[in-house]
Formats: sequence, C-alpha cells, structure tokens
Amino acid sequence: MRNAEKAVSVTQRWKGLLCGIIGVTAVDLNVVPLVIRGLQRLEYRGYDSVGIAVTSSGTLLIRKGAGELEAVRRRLSLDELQGLTAIGHTRWATHGPPNDINAHPHTDCSGTVAVVHNGVIRNYSSLRQELVARGHRLKSETDTELVAHLIEEASAGKPFIEALASALGKIEGTYALGIVNAGEPDRIYFAKMRSPLLIGIGKGVRALASDIPALLDIGKTIVFLDDGEFGYITPNDMAIYRLLPGGGYVKLTPQEVAARTKVVELSPEAASKGGYPHFMIKEIYEQPEAVRETYDGNVEDPALDRAASLLASAEKVIVVAAGTSYHAGLVFSLIAARRARLLLYPLIASEVSYVSDAIGKDDVLLAVSQSGETYDTLEAMRLAKERGATVIGVTNVVGSALDRASDLKLYTRAGPEIGVAATKTFLSQVMLLELLALRTGVETGALDRPEALSIANALKSAPSLLSAALEASDPVATAMARAFNSKSLYVLGRGLGHAIAKEGALKIKEIAYVHAEAYPAGESKHGPIALVERDFPVMVVATSDSPEVAGNAIEMAARGAKVFVTRPADLRLELSSQKGNMSVIDLPPSGGLLELEPFILSPIYQLFAYRLSVLLGHNPDKPRNLAKTVTVE
Ligand code: AGP
Repeated sequence: MRNAEKAVSVTQRWKGLLCGIIGVTAVDLNVVPLVIRGLQRLEYRGYDSVGIAVTSSGTLLIRKGAGELEAVRRRLSLDELQGLTAIGHTRWATHGPPNDINAHPHTDCSGTVAVVHNGVIRNYSSLRQELVARGHRLKSETDTELVAHLIEEASAGKPFIEALASALGKIEGTYALGIVNAGEPDRIYFAKMRSPLLIGIGKGVRALASDIPALLDIGKTIVFLDDGEFGYITPNDMAIYRLLPGGGYVKLTPQEVAARTKVVELSPEAASKGGYPHFMIKEIYEQPEAVRETYDGNVEDPALDRAASLLASAEKVIVVAAGTSYHAGLVFSLIAARRARLLLYPLIASEVSYVSDAIGKDDVLLAVSQSGETYDTLEAMRLAKERGATVIGVTNVVGSALDRASDLKLYTRAGPEIGVAATKTFLSQVMLLELLALRTGVETGALDRPEALSIANALKSAPSLLSAALEASDPVATAMARAFNSKSLYVLGRGLGHAIAKEGALKIKEIAYVHAEAYPAGESKHGPIALVERDFPVMVVATSDSPEVAGNAIEMAARGAKVFVTRPADLRLELSSQKGNMSVIDLPPSGGLLELEPFILSPIYQLFAYRLSVLLGHNPDKPRNLAKTVTVE
C-alpha cells in the first residue's frame, strides 16, 4: 500500500460500513444546512432513506422518509427546518426494509429522545421482546429504535449521561450513535463501538459524524473516538467517557483527548475515499470489515437454517447470477458439493431462459446479486417463479427488486460499493454462501453439527487472513503490474482455484482492459496451450483441493510461458522441475481449510488488476463501457 494510503488507512477505522450519521450544534447558527451538507458527503455510505431531527424550544422536530437525500429533501422540505442543534442520518438498510417508518431518527415513547445509528445490534430480538413486555410502543422494524427506549427506561431520575451508559451496557453489537434530548437543546450525545465516529471542532460549533468528509465544513480539527467511548458535545465543549468492563465509566483526561485530536488536511472528495485515490482501492482494503460484518450478521441468522433446509429438500438447486456474483455462485457450488454432497446447477443468469423448461415446482433457485437490480438475474427469478420454483435471494441491498421478489432473503453486509468492479461484495458473498453451504451440509446429513460449527468457527479468521493477504499481495501485485507488457494472459485453476481464477480474470479485463482468460487448468492442454509462446503470461491459482495444478503450471513453463503460481504458503506443490520462468508467490497459510482460500488468494488478482489499470492510465472506478448495475437485457 502506498505511504499516503497507509497513513490515511491507519487513521481510518473502516468499521461499520453501513449508514452515515451526523450531528451539529452551534452557538448562534441554524445548523440544518450543515447537516444536509454533511449528509450529502455521507451518501456514499448508504442512500435508501434519510432523516433529520432538530431540537427546538423543548421539543423535537423530525422529518424523515424513504428515498435518496435530494428526493427526500424536496418531498419533506428539509431546508425549512431550523435550529441550533440537529442530527441527521442516511441509511443503508440492514434491519427492516427502507420505508418512512424505518428511516432514522428514531424516538422513545415520549418523543423527546431521538437517535441516529450506524451499526448492527446483535441482541436485537431479545431486547425488543423485553421492551415490549415492559410496555414500550415500538413503531419500526429497526434495531436502532431500541436504543431510544433503553435510554428512556434508564433515565428515570438520573442524569442523561448515566442513562446513556446504562443503555449501552445492555447493547451487544456495533454502533455509532448520535442522540438528541429535547430537554438539553445545546447538546448532542454520542457513543461508539466498532462503527466509525469522529468529532469535528469549529468556531462556536461542534459536530460528530461517521466519516471525515462530513466534518470538513465545520473545521479541520478532528477528534478520533475509540470503541467503548461515549459522551456529549456542545457548541464550545465536549466530554468523552470510557465504559469500564463490568459497568461504570471514567472520564477521559484533557491529555487523552488531545492525543487523538488531529488536524486533517484532506479535501472532502479525497476524504470520502478515505484518502485513497479511488473507491476501488478503498473498497479492496475495506474487505476484512465487510467480510467480518457479513459473518457477524449471518452466522446466527435463522434465515440461514431455513434456506439450508429448502436447499437440502429441493429436487434441483439452480444457482443463478451474473459476473462476479456468478463466480461467488461457483464457489458455493463447489463447497456445497464438498460439504453437503449436493450437486448444484450454477447457471449464468442470461442463459437460464434457454433451459427454464427443465425447472419445476420442487426446485429451488438461488439468485445472487449484490445490487439486487441485475435484469438477467431478475428475469431468471421470474421464469423460475412462473414454473413454481422457490427462490432464495442473496443480495447486498435490502429493499432491492431481487430482495422483494425472493421467497427467502439473505443479506451480505458489505455496505455500498461505489467502484464499478465488485471486490468487497464478492468476498462478502463468498462468506455468506460458505456459511450457507455448511448449514446445508447439516441438513443433508453430510456434515455433523459439531463439524459444521468448527468450520464456521474457523471462518472467523477470514478477515485477519484477508488483511494479511492484502499486505502480502500489494507489493507483489504492484511489481507484476510494472513488469507486465502483454496484451493477454491466462489465469488457470482447478476446482475452487478455477472459480477464483474466473473472478481474477474478470477484474483484469474490466478495469485494465487486458484480455485475461480464465481456464480450467486441466482443460488447458485440450487446445488453449497452443497460444503459449515464450514469455506468454500465465497466472495459476493453486488451492488445496487441487495440488495437481502444479503439473499444469510446469507444462506451461516448459513451453516458455512466464508462470506465476499463487498459493497458500502451506500448500505443498510438486514444482521440483520448475525453471527460471516460474515464480511461486506464497500467500498466508490456510491450514488446509479450503473455505479460507478465496480470502487468501483473491486479493492479489484484485490488486494486480487495480495497479495495472492505474499504470495504464485508466480510471478503475469508472471503467469504459461498464455500469455498476446492468438493469437492461
Ligand atoms: C463485476 O466486477 C462487475 N461489476 C459485474 O460483472 C457484476 O458482478 C455483474 O453485473 C453482476 O452484478 P450484481 O451482483 O449486482 O447482480
């Protein structure tokens, strides 16, 4: 990673990839324009609904609704709101579809406490049951609303800060919270746990937000908060406390606050990319968090069990998707064959109509689409439903067309992906689908529950392995890109390696515009090897289900190809007869657990494609001829 990127990435805690929150309080300034500006700068974090709460003479004024910021701004005349203190939110739905009721801010029963939130409350259902049993009237389907009621419950006769601390003690999960209390019109309370939250300091004005870009209109002095911290800001002051294990809290000293106060010399545009030059490289480095959020959000989700039982009892399982999502579907098909002994039909979505007569009412169609709006995939779903099949949808966008059309829904939690090339959504799909394959193995009886649980447990290490793979891969990918001078290359793999090779080749094609062709390594000698001549580049994805791929690598090298073998470091390959034109690139070890290998092997191909694209003078975020979502046939 470049020094500049490293410098910024060290300060940017890319946690909590969903939603954007902002709060502004000033001495004598209508803060609503600053809140709206801040929401504009946070829209890249989520944009399916928007809302603002203003404290004004002892009451709260709230306007919120489903839709993108500018549409809601016009529909609800957000600019008419006036006040010295306000909080705002732009949502990326995780609990509950995007609609007016589920839009933030959310309030307590009395309507005097309003909350905006980025993150996921894991013990949401038990907290909800307890609050309802104690008479609270919950209006939305969101996890966020519970926070307002927990504070309301704890505040009887106590200072608000104590009520907040008590409420936080009941919450398990991730959060960046902005809270206003009608009784204290010049304060905004906050709390942070694994979702980003920062404080901005200006003249007679202070603000808090999910990310730096939203604070740069307030000032360049930023206070970086840590997990477990909470407190409040006023226009000219702030207090930060740290929750203590086992309850209670302690106030940070002025020295501790000063130690994490920095002056940030970034433009808002640069800051929305986290200081990275492009969204794509930022999203490549966000992958550990995206995969962790997807794991956390799904590993205990009962919907996974329901999906597994549908798959296990289906006559046929057809997996349909396009592009990168199709490659995630290939990974799923391989792992399901291995762990659930299910032979699935992974089909390119635009090809389904030619075989749909064979789809029947006892079949299950698993549709994978990060956007949930891909025409081909939606069309395949329509055809399958017409023929009575059940449709399970896997998407990154709650409320998308695919989400609404699915009989059962599963969600990745990668947050919005701005770069046209799918990266963090791919490995998030892989994580979700591997968890699904394991669960399905228990349903088919191919896996006993303890074994499935132990593999699912081992998948917890995927984010850290992914981080290590990113760090190990970038310098190598950069050097390979610098030395690369060919118009085409092969990317070979067998078994799981072939699915990873297909995804890597797609990245290289779509953003570096180099003809990268993925091929099953065993098939390459049935014709394609005729293309190979001296220095013809061949990249090989070696995975632990297919060490025999070493033979294919040697065949290529023997014909003069320039071969790069990428493998988990602990995968033994018979490469003894390798010559000078073969390099072996050792990536973090997988311990032989196949499910970990997409997280170890994908980054080098993503980074090679990105570095080559930039070196060739292209814009990786906006590759020619491509759209982020293909909503036409
Ligand atoms: C992948 O980098 C491309 N952006 C493209 O192939 C994409 O994966 C495909 O269009 C499917 O998109 P979806 O996941 O939103 O359905």
